[in-house]
Amino acid sequence: MYKNIFDTHAHYDDEAFQDDLEGLLSAFPDSGISGVVSCGVNEESSRANVQLAEKYDFMYVAVGYHGLNTEDLTDNYLDAIKALAQNEKVVAIGEIGLDYHYEKESRELQLKIFYEQIKLANELNLPVIVHDREAHEDTLNILKELKPKGVVHCFSGSVEMAKEIVKLGMYIGLGGAVTFKNAVKPVEVAKYVPSDKLLLETDCPYMSPVPFRGKRCTSLLIPYTAQKIAEVRSVDVQDLLDMTDRNARSLFNIPQHNTV
Ligand code: NI
Repeated sequence: MYKNIFDTHAHYDDEAFQDDLEGLLSAFPDSGISGVVSCGVNEESSRANVQLAEKYDFMYVAVGYHGLNTEDLTDNYLDAIKALAQNEKVVAIGEIGLDYHYEKESRELQLKIFYEQIKLANELNLPVIVHDREAHEDTLNILKELKPKGVVHCFSGSVEMAKEIVKLGMYIGLGGAVTFKNAVKPVEVAKYVPSDKLLLETDCPYMSPVPFRGKRCTSLLIPYTAQKIAEVRSVDVQDLLDMTDRNARSLFNIPQHNTV
């Protein structure tokens, strides 16, 4: 059995988990899971994740407004996020970012709240968890300008873009997409990312790795993603898990395990 499995991106407030959440999460420590960052996508889900994290030692939280969750955005949303960020289990501002695939809202509004929340993260000295779907150029420009600490999650860009992200000192989050049959870019990126800048994630309940593609994802499926990445990097799976656990703790300012 593997240990030190750190899932840097999950959504355990999602209704997909409502029927069996407690049983599922209670089993994590005995299943080798050492940490989870559950991400809010608006004020309500950020608050729900904070409440959840108070019950589970291994769970940490990111609070923020996703670019696609602007329908209930209020004028003082930044104050609400800032207040939530005071909770000791909050380790990042996220999930924030740009999604030009589903353009429900104007790009202008997405850009505005992305920008404002990175500035808030910088002010609070917290890292950001960034969503970028079909918005590589705008994402990179804003990150270059504001230079936050953080991770670009479920990274879908090219190796060239990954190099730019790493140059900014940021991390690359990889999940189930690296295991998909037609995955080319994520596999190239998995090969390239410097060891100290790689993070593992699920984005559960979405993005289950092969052979569970299309089914509900949980942090328990991280080993399938880790096996694929370890294979393309020609490293041991447990070594990869250990390394990415260390990276996650370093980025999110969570104490490292005591190692002898
Ligand atoms: Ni997500």
